[in-house]
Amino acid sequence: MARKVILDMDPGIDDAVALCLALADPRLEVIAVTATGGNVSPRQATRNVQAIIERIDPPRWPRIGAAESEQLLRTDARELYGAEGLGDAEFTVAELHNRHPSVKVLSEELRQAPGEITVVCSGPLSNLSALFQREPETAAMISELIVVGGSVAVGGNITAAAEFNIYCDAEAAQRVLRAKVPTTVVTLDATQKLVLRYDLLDMLRSRETRTAKLLAAILPGLYHIYRQRYGMEGVYLHDVAGVVAAMHPELFTTKALYGEVEVTGELTHGATVFDRRPQPEGAPNMDVALELDAAAVRDCIFRGLDHGE
Ligand code: RIB
Ligand code: CA
Repeated sequence: MARKVILDMDPGIDDAVALCLALADPRLEVIAVTATGGNVSPRQATRNVQAIIERIDPPRWPRIGAAESEQLLRTDARELYGAEGLGDAEFTVAELHNRHPSVKVLSEELRQAPGEITVVCSGPLSNLSALFQREPETAAMISELIVVGGSVAVGGNITAAAEFNIYCDAEAAQRVLRAKVPTTVVTLDATQKLVLRYDLLDMLRSRETRTAKLLAAILPGLYHIYRQRYGMEGVYLHDVAGVVAAMHPELFTTKALYGEVEVTGELTHGATVFDRRPQPEGAPNMDVALELDAAAVRDCIFRGLDHGE
């Protein structure tokens, strides 16, 4: 029985790779993809979700949720992912007139299958936060929440202290992580242990599938920036780790921790603070992925993207 998932994402190149992997994997049934602003504006994120799904054209299209245009975010990642969020590639998309808001799609699908759906959030947590504010009862309808974000011991990536997804909407992250949903947070401590090198790009360039053609068009710019800016011969694909965590949780080492989000600090705004003392202040409220089996996760990514549509 395939695992029902809703992907809440802000494409973003690594979100795009994660979406392609999820759509290709028979272990996952992607019920919906709900866009959120983050890497790019809410409108651009919605367009990118639609552009990716149109190009992959999976046998069964997931519902698409539109990010709310008035979403307030602290920053974006266009410097890393390109002006439109998918590298140097520019995609035209059909204008979908009857787009449903992401929060409405989340609510409807969770109410239709309470206790059956895993929500994987690979962008800021604004949509779930808004849903829990408007319809608090929906939190209990989520079977499991997987959040790509936060950090324990490696500091931040958008500031010295904060990881991007949490930083963009820290108040939303605070509300969602306090909502008592069974949650796994895939932190930078785990995702930065996997560098995808040029062999991934080489593999994609050698294939003729729709997945390979799309990703071969959007990934090169990211490799260039990682080499230029960070001196790395490869890239992090943080969100892909989040989807692999839904496919193969056994590849991740997690620890139950009590954690909170800093929302008032000047230097630490958006930092995730985990109490790792012998007697923590609060009971553990999430499972935190600190390690991953890099070789096995890499193999899962290569196999999944090589057999995509
Ligand atoms: O910190 C990594 C996260 O920030 C990823 O979700 C990436 O897409 C960016 O949004
Ligand atoms: Ca993302």
